[in-house]
Amino acid sequence: MCEGTSRLQRIFTSMAEIRVGKGGSMKVVAVLYPGGAAAAGTPELLGCAENALGLRDWLEGQGHELVATTDAGAGLDSHLPTADVLIATPFWPAYISRERIESAPNLKLLLTAGVGSDHFDLAAAAERGITVAEITGSNVVSVAEHVVMQILALVRNYIPAYQEVIDGGWDIGKVAAPSHDLEDKRVGIVGFGRIGQRVATRLKPFDVHLRYFDYRRLPHAEETVLGARFQGLRALVAESDVVSINIPLTPDTQGMFDRALLHSMKRGAYLVNTARGRIVDTDALVEVMESGHLAGYAGDVWYPQPAPSDHPWRRMPRHAMTPHVSGTTLEAQRRYANGIRECLEAFIAGRPIDSDYIIVDGGRVASPSYSPAYR
Ligand code: NAI
Repeated sequence: MCEGTSRLQRIFTSMAEIRVGKGGSMKVVAVLYPGGAAAAGTPELLGCAENALGLRDWLEGQGHELVATTDAGAGLDSHLPTADVLIATPFWPAYISRERIESAPNLKLLLTAGVGSDHFDLAAAAERGITVAEITGSNVVSVAEHVVMQILALVRNYIPAYQEVIDGGWDIGKVAAPSHDLEDKRVGIVGFGRIGQRVATRLKPFDVHLRYFDYRRLPHAEETVLGARFQGLRALVAESDVVSINIPLTPDTQGMFDRALLHSMKRGAYLVNTARGRIVDTDALVEVMESGHLAGYAGDVWYPQPAPSDHPWRRMPRHAMTPHVSGTTLEAQRRYANGIRECLEAFIAGRPIDSDYIIVDGGRVASPSYSPAYR
């Protein structure tokens, strides 16, 4: 490193030390998924602990400490008393309860590498004056594409058809009997924010009848452009052939798809949930799948995560689930890694974090997608 660069770096480091306080350097703890063998060969796999969102050289070069770990349990607990910033990711969540927040007296910033900050106790963070931010928009296209893929996989009976090929069979009747066109079906989207609207625009060319439910209704002109009409939750769920869940997990939406709502779905309908596992009642879903009331279930979100090997959704019939990967394509990882760095740069410089990213700030839940549930 040339002398000028190192002098500049010393100045930046000392500026950061002043703002971060506490003896000059801050401790950033990131709980990320294990990249395994893929991590070394794929540097673009930025969201794994090995590649640490590409933050290591930058943070350590400024004299800060970065701990990147996959241990969301006791390993993380041992760092909480000294952590200034905690980064968690929905794909391998560290569940940060009120008790854990209380055990972290220096904690000032909670960041989600991705979208969806339900793994943090938002009320407890607000009470402590901790800022919570996520990388809004970073993976919404990735999820919308996954939703469309999974709707088609279910409606066209793709997984059993593929399995037939692998098994060496050619039973056209068996594979075709539960296979349909998506055209002309009614698709209901619950939660019409960034992902919900992108699902709608991607489904429009399939000539489906689109309905949506959200507590923020769009102006008529926007509904027309998106080709989706508003409908109340109960009617939407009862009348749709396919339902896609795209709301955040909040105290209002936890368990929203309970036994009664699932049974109110049309017999033979399909449900796709890429939002959060806890929005759907675990046992009630198994019940409607085993009874044949629903023709299929897909999505990529579970509770808890990673899903234990005996999680009942792994073995229920006619599902097309994946592990939680829809929002972590390589492109999405680049976008949320860049967003995390942007948040840290603002925090270190003492500037406000981009308001689009803010979930909790100034002692209150500020995001319009979460705040109604915390009033
Ligand atoms: P968003 O904030 O743009 O949209 C969420 C929408 O849900 C908003 O329009 C909001 O008004 C609505 N909403 C919230 N609570 C509601 C309620 N109780 N009733 C009716 N509507 C309600 O969020 P975005 O980007 O569309 O993401 C939605 C969720 O999807 C995230 O919160 C996250 O949980 C999940 N997600 C999953 C990913 C994955 O990899 N599977 C990746 C990204 C997000």
